[in-house]
Amino acid sequence: MSEQIKTRKVIGLNGGPRKNWNTASLLEEALKGAASTGAETKLIHLYDLDYKGCRSCFSCKTKENYLKGRCALKDELSSVLELLEDCTGAVMGSPIYLSDVTGALRSFLERYIFINLAYDFDAPSVLKRGPAIGLIYSMNVPETLIETMGYDVLFRSQANFFSRLNPPVFEQLLSCDTYQFSDYSRYHAPMFDEAHKRAVKETQFPQDLKLAYEMGARIGQTGFGDGK
Ligand SMILES: Cc1cc2nc3c(=O)[nH]c(=O)nc-3n(C[C@H](O)[C@H](O)[C@H](O)COP(=O)(O)O)c2cc1C
Repeated sequence: MSEQIKTRKVIGLNGGPRKNWNTASLLEEALKGAASTGAETKLIHLYDLDYKGCRSCFSCKTKENYLKGRCALKDELSSVLELLEDCTGAVMGSPIYLSDVTGALRSFLERYIFINLAYDFDAPSVLKRGPAIGLIYSMNVPETLIETMGYDVLFRSQANFFSRLNPPVFEQLLSCDTYQFSDYSRYHAPMFDEAHKRAVKETQFPQDLKLAYEMGARIGQTGFGDGK
C-alpha cells in the first residue's frame, strides 16, 4: 500500500493590528508563495482573538501531559494552537513595537513555544520536528541601524527558541524603513522624511514582498518531518 501523503498546510499569523499594511502584505505574499507550491494556506489576525500569554500553570510540563504539547488554558488562541499541531509550516509576522514584537505575538509565542519546550537536556522539545517557520519583522528603522538599536539581539533570541523546536526550515525576513502613515502631512513626525519613505516604499518594499513570496514557497514545499 502506498504511503499516505499528508496535505501541506501553512498558517500565517499576523501579530500586528493593521490588516492591510506592511506586515499583513508581507504575510499575504508569503502565503501566496506557499500556495504556489500546492500547500493549503490560512491567514489569522491575532488581534481579532481574545487571549492572554502563558499563565505559568505548568500543566504542559506535568508528567502525564509531557510530550503532548497542549496548553491547558482555553481561550480564543486554543484553536490556533490546535491548527499548528497539523501544520507543515507557519509564517509569523510582527511590526516592531518598542524594540520588540507586539504584545499579541509575544503572548502567542509564550504559549506556542512554551508548550513545545521540554526541560530536558537531551531533548529540548516535545516535537521531534516542528513545522517549518518563517518570521517576518517590519519596522521603521533602516537596516543600517538594526545593531545600534539592539534588534539583532531580539532576532537571535527568537531564532534560538525556534531552533529548539527542530523546524526543518527556519527563516527570518526583515522589512526596514517602512511607510508608516497613509498621509505623513497629518502627523507630527519631523524625524521622518516622507520623500525618502515613499522612495523606500516604491523601491525596497516590492523587493521585500518578493523575498516574502520566495520564503513562503520554500516553507510551502516543506513536508512533515519523519518524526511528526
Ligand atoms: C506602538 C508603536 C511602537 C513602535 N515602535 C517601533 C520601534 O521600536 N522601532 C521601529 O523600528 N519601529 C517602531 N514602530 C513602527 C512600526 O514597527 C512600523 O511602522 C511597522 O512597519 C508597522 O507595521 P504595519 O504597517 O504592519 O502596522 C512602532 C509603531 C507603533 C505603532
